Amino acid sequence: MIGVFDSGVGGLTVLRALVARLPEERFLYLGDHAFAPYGRRPADEIYALTRRAVDRLFREGCGLVVIACNTASAVALRRLQQAWLPTAWPDRNILGVFVPVIEALSGRKWTAPGPTRYSPRRPARTVAVFATRTTVQSNAFGRELKARAPHLTVLQQACPRLAEAIEEGWAQEDIDRGIARYVGAVMAKAGGTPVDLAVLGCTHYPLVQDLFRKHLPEGVTMLDQPTLCADGLADYLGRRKRFARRADEPAGASRFLTSGDPEAIALISERFFGAAVPFEHLRGDLPPQGGDEAAAAEPPAG
Ligand code: DGL
Repeated sequence: MIGVFDSGVGGLTVLRALVARLPEERFLYLGDHAFAPYGRRPADEIYALTRRAVDRLFREGCGLVVIACNTASAVALRRLQQAWLPTAWPDRNILGVFVPVIEALSGRKWTAPGPTRYSPRRPARTVAVFATRTTVQSNAFGRELKARAPHLTVLQQACPRLAEAIEEGWAQEDIDRGIARYVGAVMAKAGGTPVDLAVLGCTHYPLVQDLFRKHLPEGVTMLDQPTLCADGLADYLGRRKRFARRADEPAGASRFLTSGDPEAIALISERFFGAAVPFEHLRGDLPPQGGDEAAAAEPPAG
């Protein structure tokens, strides 16, 4: 089983693409609705919340967890992989949603040699990234792109409250006005240099990608993060077969867990997943938050 974690409902946009690309795999989705949104929380808190959710997915039997949340990927993934996973769950792995996008932007695979399948219309020089405030403050996109594609100029734009506005179903005109402002801010930062690519670096933004499209200048290529993640996961499972479904295991059928109110979430899930989702409340508490040392000292069950 493959775990998919998000702060709330937005990760369903990623799961939808994963299910479409890998229909035989079994996914277990966990939305931490009780603590969403993460985009306004401090990094240490996001780290602790993400760690306990990932731990829970491992305890539920997932071998691999995809952190579908950009904010959690930006501030928690690297620390989890380096400081927690090797002692707490040495035989499991965690992936995020940045690597496939950075591979596409840099035109280079993260580990294996060779170019990526994605090829821009023209050699890209300037990339606009729209994300939550915490993702932008973490500079995760900027840092990785500087290392892997130093020729690219990255313009990052925080879109405070945009994810909440989308989730709460604000009027289209209000959302449109906000997006116009964010795109305007990026164009001002570009200062006349053409923007070649745009990344919507938040799980909620695919729902309003037409509005971003409308305000971005013509000729800007928008990367589809969920599809890139699905291609990335398919590629990863092809190389790491032990995380993929075995032929003797049942195929398909995802399950959906939430730390929040399953009925309320089921009502909004359709906009994110394309079909209403039967969420179940997490049985039992998530393990307490604590330091890496505390987690490493706790022997994992299973
Ligand atoms: N899932 C978050 C992300 O992709 C957006 C919602 C939140 O702030 O929790 O950044």
